[in-house]
This record gives sequence, C-alpha cells and structure tokens, in this order.
Amino acid sequence: MYLRRRWSLSAPSASDRARLRDKLETGVSGYPMFPCKESTLAVHAGQHPDPQTGAVNVPIYLSSTFELTGIGSDRGWDYSRAGNPTRDRLETALAALEGGLSAHAFTTGMAAIAALVALLRTGDHVVCSRDVYAGTVRLFDQIVSGYGIQIEYVDTSDLQAVEAAMKPNTKLVHIETPSNPLMVLTDIAAVAEIAHAHGAELSVDNTFMSPVLQRPLALGADIVMHSTTKYLNGHSDGLGGALIGSKPEHKERFLLVQKAAGGVLSPFECFLVLRGIKTLPLRIRQHEENGRAVAEFLAAHPKVTRLAYPGLKSHPQYELACRQQRGFGSMMSFELNSRAEAEQFLKSIRIFLNAESLGGVESLASHSATTTHGSVSEEVRQRMGINQGRIRLSIGIEDKEDLIADLDQALKAV
Ligand SMILES: Cc1ncc(COP(=O)(O)O)c(C=O)c1O
Repeated sequence: MYLRRRWSLSAPSASDRARLRDKLETGVSGYPMFPCKESTLAVHAGQHPDPQTGAVNVPIYLSSTFELTGIGSDRGWDYSRAGNPTRDRLETALAALEGGLSAHAFTTGMAAIAALVALLRTGDHVVCSRDVYAGTVRLFDQIVSGYGIQIEYVDTSDLQAVEAAMKPNTKLVHIETPSNPLMVLTDIAAVAEIAHAHGAELSVDNTFMSPVLQRPLALGADIVMHSTTKYLNGHSDGLGGALIGSKPEHKERFLLVQKAAGGVLSPFECFLVLRGIKTLPLRIRQHEENGRAVAEFLAAHPKVTRLAYPGLKSHPQYELACRQQRGFGSMMSFELNSRAEAEQFLKSIRIFLNAESLGGVESLASHSATTTHGSVSEEVRQRMGINQGRIRLSIGIEDKEDLIADLDQALKAV
C-alpha cells in the first residue's frame, strides 16, 4: 500500500511528467500500488526521490507562494497555508502509517486537537477520557466549552460508563490509550462500537503508542491524532501535530481548517518529522526493549510502588494491551512516598533528564503533579490518582543497563 510504482506517463514534457508523478504520489488515490510492510513504508511512503533532481531526501520547499500557470490554474500548489509540497509528503507518510484516507499536519499536537474540534457545532456533546493529557482538558474546559459544546469526562476504561454517558447529541468520543501518566487502557474496538451505535465518531490520541504499536483506525476508530513532537519526530527537536482521517468528510474539513485557521506545520519541521519517521520502527523496537527491562527492574524495587506499565502481567489490563497493541511501549510511571522523595530522585538522576515531553531518543523523568498535570487542581489530581510522589518515565534508546544503573543509584539516594 501507498508505495507507488514508478510511472512512465505519456505527458508532453519531462518536467510536466515529473510534476505529475510527484502529484500522483502525494496522495491522489486510484492508481495501482504494491503492498509493503511497515518498515518499508516508514522509509518510502511519501519519501520517493525528488522528481526534478533525483534527491533521495524530500526537499524543504521554503516558498510561501507558487507561480500560477494561468488564471485559476497551478501546478498543484498556490500558497503554502493551503498546501506545500514538503507538507504533502509528510501527510502522505502519516496516512500510510496509520492506514488513513488523509493526514493533516499542524503546528503542535494541541493545534491538531483544536482542529478536531472544528467537526463540532454549538449544542454538541463530547465524551472524553478522564485522564487525558492535561493540555487537552485545558483546551476543552477553557476554550471549547465557551462555544456551547458540552464536554463530559468519563473513565473510558469502563465501557458501561461510556455507554451511560452517550446522549442523542454526542458527536465525538475522544480517548487517549494508554492514558497519561497512569497507563490506563481503553478498549478501542469496544468504544468505537458504542460511539457508532449512537451516531458519534471516535478519535484516538495515539501519541504514546505511535502507529508502530497501535493502529486505531484498523480497530474501528474514525480519526487518529498525534503530537508528532513525540515518537514520530523522535529527536526532541521540533513541535508538531497531526490528524489522520478515515472518511472524505474528514479530509474536506481538516483541509478547510488548515486553510482557514492556518495552524499548519512549517516545511522545515515537516522535513524533521519525515526524517524521524524513517527510523520510527527501528527506534520503537529499542524503546520497547528498554521499556520492558526498566519496568521489570522497577517492579522488583522496594522503594517503588504503584508502577503503571501495561507490559507487566500484574497490570490489570495486560490482556487488553496484548490484544490491541503490538507492543507495550516505553512510557511508565511509579510512585515514591512523597514530593520530597520525588525531588531527591529527580536531583539524583544522571542519564535520565528531568524534563517534560516523551518519545525522544533520550530518557526523561518528570514529576507529573507539577509538569503535565500542573494546570489541574489538587482535588482533580487526587481524583485521577496522581499524587505528589508520582514520577513519569519516557524510556529512550540508550543502553538499557546504563539506564537501570542510573535509576538504581537515584533510588538509593532517596
Ligand atoms: C498524549 C499527548 N497528546 C497531546 C499532546 C500535546 O502535544 P504538543 O505538545 O505537541 O502540543 C501531548 C504533549 O505532551 C501529549 O502527551
């Protein structure tokens, strides 16, 4: 899929032919494709050589505007807010990896979620996972609800609670699985079924898993959202977000949001994500191997409590993780006894960095209550089960023995 044959088109000139081929390969459907596997897609989908020069890397088209060929005619692009060749390539790659109909790149993950909201109207009702990324809650509660859209937070790991929350005006169910930082899973296929039975759509924030470990559209979801800032970029050197749609209406709507609201990813940052995607399957394999090793170490450590990692048989949703994920990832969190212990731990780490974010090659540790969930009240944090001793880890691709040794010495200092 998505990797197109080399074409010999009978277009009039070589340059026209090259442009046409480029255009065909950047997302127009209806042409034969040959099937290939994920690692091949990661290197090649949307990343074919530049037709003009043969450059094997996608050029960064730093042009705000494009010469038109006449009144009302162009070569496929007219103005970069509406479309840019580098962004088209990234969007092709993302659609291919998630198995979607179209993908749309935005300036940040939050801008992508804001674009998702453009599917809604005043009077609509949204069911949202209770422990989503706190930035999503801030957007929904402080901006979206002001437009007369009702947001209801539900423990979406509880299917009965999801069913009970559905209303005649529910248009969207938005979930994050695994959740942040408690790694609670939501059954994507089951929630998709509930949403569809009520005429709503399901969107899944797939940032924690990446398309390598979880493919929500194949499980019945309608839209996938990513903060490309994380695993897709993978090197902590750029922000970005994406929506991957499964229906023509999504493509139409999200293209409109890109053009009308303008929060599109810059060509340079599109290039960085394209570059990151080439090694995504390879990196994820190392993240995964390191994640499992670190989780096993922490699970056996006497100072660590309430370790949340879906790859441990002791995780209450281990069976669901095996069913809907293709691996367990490298995100986890655990508790120390107090904020003071958490502070001592974060002061003592030497390889891990005390920093927010996740999904980069470097391992990070962060204090959930004051970083990702710093904007949430203590009462809500308590209700969510995030206490002052909780530390979240994003395991990078360094040597796993070094990572364990670092955690070991930092825990000894606590
Ligand atoms: C799960 C999840 N979704 C969305 C976001 C927002 O992404 P961004 O920081 O790129 O706006 C984040 C950021 O940490 C996240 O962790």
